[in-house]
Amino acid sequence: MSEPRKILVTSALPYANGSIHLGHMLEYIQTDMWVRFQKLRGNQCTYVCADDAHGSAIMLRAEKEGITPEQLIANVQAEHSADFAEFLVDFDNFHSTHAEENRELSSAIYLKLREAGHIATRSITQYFDPEKKMFLADRFIKGTCPKCGTDDQYGDNCEKCGATYAPTDLKNPKSAISGATPVLKDSEHFFFKLPDFDAMLKSWTRSGALQDAVANKIAEWLDAGLQQWDISRDAPYFGFEIPDAPGKYFYVWLDAPIGYMASFKNLCARRPELDFDAYWAKDSTAELYHFIGKDIVNFHALFWPAMLEGAGYRKPTAINVHGYLTVNGQKMSKSRGTFIKARTYLDHLAPEYLRYYYASKLGRGVDDLDLNLEDFVQKVNSDLVGKVVNIASRCAGFIHKGNAGVMVEGNAAPELTEAFLAAAPSIAEAYEARDFARAMREIMGLADRANAWIADKAPWAMAKVEGKQDEVQAVCALGINLFRQLVIFLKPVLPVLAADAEAFLNVEPLIWSDHNVLLANHQLNAFKPLMTRIDPVKVQAMTDASKEDLIASQTDTGTAAPQGNGELVKEPLAAEIEFDTFAAVDLRVALILKAEAVEGADKLLRLTLDIGDEQRNVFSGIKSAYPNPAELEGRLTMMIANLKPRKMRFGMSEGMVMAAGPGGEEIYLLSPDSGAKPGQRIK
Ligand code: MSP
Ligand code: ZN
Repeated sequence: MSEPRKILVTSALPYANGSIHLGHMLEYIQTDMWVRFQKLRGNQCTYVCADDAHGSAIMLRAEKEGITPEQLIANVQAEHSADFAEFLVDFDNFHSTHAEENRELSSAIYLKLREAGHIATRSITQYFDPEKKMFLADRFIKGTCPKCGTDDQYGDNCEKCGATYAPTDLKNPKSAISGATPVLKDSEHFFFKLPDFDAMLKSWTRSGALQDAVANKIAEWLDAGLQQWDISRDAPYFGFEIPDAPGKYFYVWLDAPIGYMASFKNLCARRPELDFDAYWAKDSTAELYHFIGKDIVNFHALFWPAMLEGAGYRKPTAINVHGYLTVNGQKMSKSRGTFIKARTYLDHLAPEYLRYYYASKLGRGVDDLDLNLEDFVQKVNSDLVGKVVNIASRCAGFIHKGNAGVMVEGNAAPELTEAFLAAAPSIAEAYEARDFARAMREIMGLADRANAWIADKAPWAMAKVEGKQDEVQAVCALGINLFRQLVIFLKPVLPVLAADAEAFLNVEPLIWSDHNVLLANHQLNAFKPLMTRIDPVKVQAMTDASKEDLIASQTDTGTAAPQGNGELVKEPLAAEIEFDTFAAVDLRVALILKAEAVEGADKLLRLTLDIGDEQRNVFSGIKSAYPNPAELEGRLTMMIANLKPRKMRFGMSEGMVMAAGPGGEEIYLLSPDSGAKPGQRIK
């Protein structure tokens, strides 16, 4: 056998200032499936990632929340790690860019670049917020478009007319942070001399390291000529200080990709079989792959290889770029409920449904991928439940009833097992090439053949015929063997299904080469249903909950609070509705029996409500306005009593209370006049 390959794989480092959503998950699931495939094949494959923890956005958000950036990034890292783990994304290490290894590597790489003459300094003039005492990035400046006169446009482009301009062209500029009028100020900046690497980049980007579409895009940029890259930011900034330059920090995109190395280095410290230099030294024979989305190609295919080259490290073997996720054919939308957070999905559906759906649609190109929610239900139910799991559930019972759970020896359909064997190399090739869609098509083609053969033999009919018992056993034993092959082929995509199948099959964890043998005279364990159909109601509940997330994030209430006309939320009146639509909402007077904080939730109160004949448990995002919840006890309010109960992380929420206001401390719970009784209908 040939030597196992040494492969290091990364996914882009998610920003530590927001939640993971299903768009991000496309990348992490894609990478994880590829890594699992490599491991299943016996290669030494290591998958590292980290949170991207630096930058002014993170600094400002922490300030707003009244916590340190360190606390913020620790909270987010815990949230991200839990989301990834539950989606079965199996990192060997999930680190942070705000870590000692990264500080050391970033400084060392910068110093090597400086020694080699690849760093320049010069003074630039920029807008400065005199109140916040900080320089303002373009997106923190707002003003009137110089072209069309529209107010409230960002410092680099106008959303109304599409004009692009310099922030100094904006009329009436204001700091989006403090509202102050910015002043122009000079400051010394550090630049990475990217043009030094022009020749190297021209050949490397054509060396097969990039998909054709990506290489073509990059060629346009290369032809237009490379510019020096500004890699410094002035204090205050959350990041690493530049050596010998007090008050100057590395721009977040300088230390972010170095975070790949740092995460690996951190892992090497606890995995003796991994050697940092064997993977990163200039003469390394290991393979290095970065999986990224199409929006961050310039950082990975230009700046990053140039930095590595300039500092004396190896360059990536390939950059694997994927397209963007759309939902139901459109950009993810908060108001349509299709901006779905990883957590919201997990509250309603099992991770493997999405893993399979993504696999069935992911090719090796950079096209966008559509998550069509109807197609999602249909495809998963028909392929996984209807085809794959069905084979095992059709056959297991006869083996348990007729032969005490022992699979007989033999091969009842050699042409079928031949076809399965012959397909394996082609399926492996598709996985290797990241053509998951082709792999899934081939696997489902095999599942169709297995099902057709079993249907033709109809063991359920033979079982009723005297003298056919041996044939029933022969057919069902082969059925289970074919099912086992399919499980091996699907294991990179469906690791939990595979583990459950291994338990039923009573076998050690399956590896790719196990598809070469058939089980014979083999004792099975009891069969439990391996996967249930997706109930479309749950998909609806997920998009409904995503719309609620929107309300919660806009008003911070999570109640049915009407959108205020406050500065933050400018929501036009909703569309007109028929009287019947209104009448379908069952509003009731509710007495708050109990109001308490929910452990582990920053914004939620748990309310116990009396609505006459019954009590309801309702979670409401009004804690910021009622820090002493007990004061609400004994008070009357109004609730929507016929809202479909929603399962939340902390329990069932059985309705919603009503409140007004923009959010934060300004949330006003609605109450009826005195005299109203709990349970009375509001009409
Ligand atoms: N922090 C940077 C990456 C630094 S890597 C050294 C970043 N973070 S991100 O959180 O915005 O995105 C992380 C990854 O998710 C990126 O590869 C990005 O392309 C991908 N996606 C984010 N939204 C996406 C979709 N809607 N669809 C598919 N991928 C998307 O960029
Ligand atoms: Zn304009």
